[in-house]
Amino acid sequence: MQIAIDGPASSGKSTVAKKLAKKLNFIYIDTGAMYRALTYFALKKQVDLNNENEIIPLFKNLNFHVTSSKDGQHFWVNNEDVTDKIRQPDVAEHVSQVATYSQVRNFLSKLQRKMAKQQNVIMDGRDIGTVILPQANYKFFVTASPEVRAHRRFLENQERGIDTSLSKLTESIKKRDKIDSQRKVAPLKKAPDAELIDTSDLSISEVVSLLLSKIRV
Ligand code: DC
Repeated sequence: MQIAIDGPASSGKSTVAKKLAKKLNFIYIDTGAMYRALTYFALKKQVDLNNENEIIPLFKNLNFHVTSSKDGQHFWVNNEDVTDKIRQPDVAEHVSQVATYSQVRNFLSKLQRKMAKQQNVIMDGRDIGTVILPQANYKFFVTASPEVRAHRRFLENQERGIDTSLSKLTESIKKRDKIDSQRKVAPLKKAPDAELIDTSDLSISEVVSLLLSKIRV
């Protein structure tokens, strides 16, 4: 069984997807983290992120994999655990650009579809309901206003000890929304058959209960 959850940055989809997966005993797959991991690696290699031709060769022999442990999923790039590093602001700042490249998307799409075949999954991202798993049993498009989302990211960053101003975060979220929804390949878009869930005025547990009430396993 496949559940697709798409939506813009900081809409709460990852937190909700993780909790839902635990309740349903499904595997949670965070596709945004995959784009972040590749972006982290490209930044580390100091290539020009605006040049697809410099980025693609990096991924040719890349050993990229995801493992699950008690404290959640871990993302590995050439045997380096990048799970925490991919949440840093410089990765957030550049990931949307890297995600516009069709060869990057092809590389990750194959991996994502393969992972979704092997087990019951909840997968979250931008193009899951539209491109990656168009046949998903359930599709949700989770959103909230940019201000609410920036505030959530602000609190999340504080918890992680990352210092960023609220106004900078709002600006960065709006910029990412624009790049994600206007790119040519697999843009952020609600699938016609996805259900729209506005979480602006809902707590995480309210959203989880709402989605659970709609899912029949
Ligand atoms: O969900 P997130 O903030 O971790 O995602 C990071 C970026 O990755 C997001 O700005 C766009 C890109 N992304 C994508 O293009 N397609 C996906 N399925 C998931 C993420």
